[in-house]
Amino acid sequence: MDVDARPGIPNGWYAVAWSRDLAVGEVKRVRAFEEELVVFRTRSGKARVLSAYCSHLGAHLAEGGRVAGERVRCPFHAWEYDGETGECVSIPYCARVPQGARQRAWPVDEVNHMIMVWHHAEQKPPAWHLAPCPHFDDPDWSDVRRFEVEVPVHVQDMAENNMDPVHFRYVHAMTDVPDQEISFEENGRVLKAVSYSQQETPFGTFDMQLLRESECIGHATVESRGIPTVGLFMFSSTTPLDRHHSISRWALVGTNNAIDEAGEEWIARITGGVEDDRRIWSNKIHRKDPVFCEADTYLVEFRKWVQQFYSPGQQPGVRPAE
Ligand code: FES
Ligand SMILES: [Fe+2]
Repeated sequence: MDVDARPGIPNGWYAVAWSRDLAVGEVKRVRAFEEELVVFRTRSGKARVLSAYCSHLGAHLAEGGRVAGERVRCPFHAWEYDGETGECVSIPYCARVPQGARQRAWPVDEVNHMIMVWHHAEQKPPAWHLAPCPHFDDPDWSDVRRFEVEVPVHVQDMAENNMDPVHFRYVHAMTDVPDQEISFEENGRVLKAVSYSQQETPFGTFDMQLLRESECIGHATVESRGIPTVGLFMFSSTTPLDRHHSISRWALVGTNNAIDEAGEEWIARITGGVEDDRRIWSNKIHRKDPVFCEADTYLVEFRKWVQQFYSPGQQPGVRPAE
């Protein structure tokens, strides 16, 4: 019998919305990490994320809730929760706030045009932070192009594609499997990969390097190098909605000369590649213990790397290549 042994939700930073989609005073309903969340921007401009179901009678704070200064106000009986701590700080018709009147507050960093939330299964505080990428908001680089796709797949399986050079030949019709090197930094937390391949580009055929970095499952930056004076860069965050669905957001920028010359079709071709993968992702199961072949060394490394992001009881398994 085939068992679909999906692990739980890995710990890390995940996007819950694009920054520009959350105006001051706006309240949004978001489902992520198998949780209902209320995402809002306070009057001082801070993005905040709390668990959505009110500790009083369980109303959904994003369904009619309002921003009140730095707080969100429940639509049912107007209890007000502080955005940073999640504590109820005011009940307009009571002098005293009872113990336990609080929402879970999710750590938020707003970086690289996305509202990023720290998810930890044991609710531990963030162990590290994502750095702003230098190519955003650089006058020599274009405005951000946004791409978003939802796929019924576990976040780990979507990320695994990145360490699967062979599939580029069979799924993405690349003629050669690119040569690749991987390395680890930050005590093994950051996974870096460089792949080398000759590519036809809108600027001619070049020996290209694709530099990729992942700071946790679901996070990736990708930089293309090899075309003189031309750069292309992507920051992406893939968020597990639950163990069966993920939403991937990509922020892409290119040097202005690249965008002027090759236009939007180039970007469209990059983002279009995800459609090649969709049928595989949408219909696969998660193998906890795959049978690996000798060419699967990167996949084995990936499966070892991912384990650090799971809290006890949520881990996937790994078996060495034969
Ligand atoms: S349910 Fe939220 S204040 Fe009553
Ligand atoms: Fe792919």
